[in-house]
Amino acid sequence: MSQQFTPNNPLPQEAKVPEEMAVFSPEIEAEIDAHLAKYPVKRSAILPLMFIMQRERGWLDPPAVAYLADRLGVRITDIWEVATFYSMINTKPVGKYHIQICKTLSCKILGADRVTEQCSQRLGIKPGETTADGRYTISLVECLGSCGTAPMLQLGFDFHENLTPEKVDEILDRCDRDEYVFQHGVERSA
Ligand code: FES
Repeated sequence: MSQQFTPNNPLPQEAKVPEEMAVFSPEIEAEIDAHLAKYPVKRSAILPLMFIMQRERGWLDPPAVAYLADRLGVRITDIWEVATFYSMINTKPVGKYHIQICKTLSCKILGADRVTEQCSQRLGIKPGETTADGRYTISLVECLGSCGTAPMLQLGFDFHENLTPEKVDEILDRCDRDEYVFQHGVERSA
């Protein structure tokens, strides 16, 4: 759902802004209000609110960006500055199974390229791409803080560590059969 969006703090120069603003149920609005109430400065709630947008809409789409700008009283560009900094915020649609492979030093040394190659070959997509059926996306991301158990990947919010070819196959087999159970939630509910 969406409604007309009118920025209350337009940019000084001409810029493309979303025309519509996302609309949420009273329950979701209450959840958003609860986050806003935690912070003396509204814009400090930007990340928890981004996660709610993403969970409800699948990704941070333009109407969700407009909604955040309106609720937080900031500019569209302020939203994008944060959204494009964090790899966990999706600025384009991702598949049901979003495979985020750590590409940073420990993982790189211990086999991140092998993991990436295996996933790419099996799914027929390169990093940054989504399968035509919308089920899988592969992303390469910076350190996820699990360097001691490299190489690793994140699926939804689940970490899979000390990856071997067998472990990667086993994870993808479960996804293929829709038997994968997310332990820590997913990035999206759509
Ligand atoms: S280098 Fe991969 S988790 Fe830190």
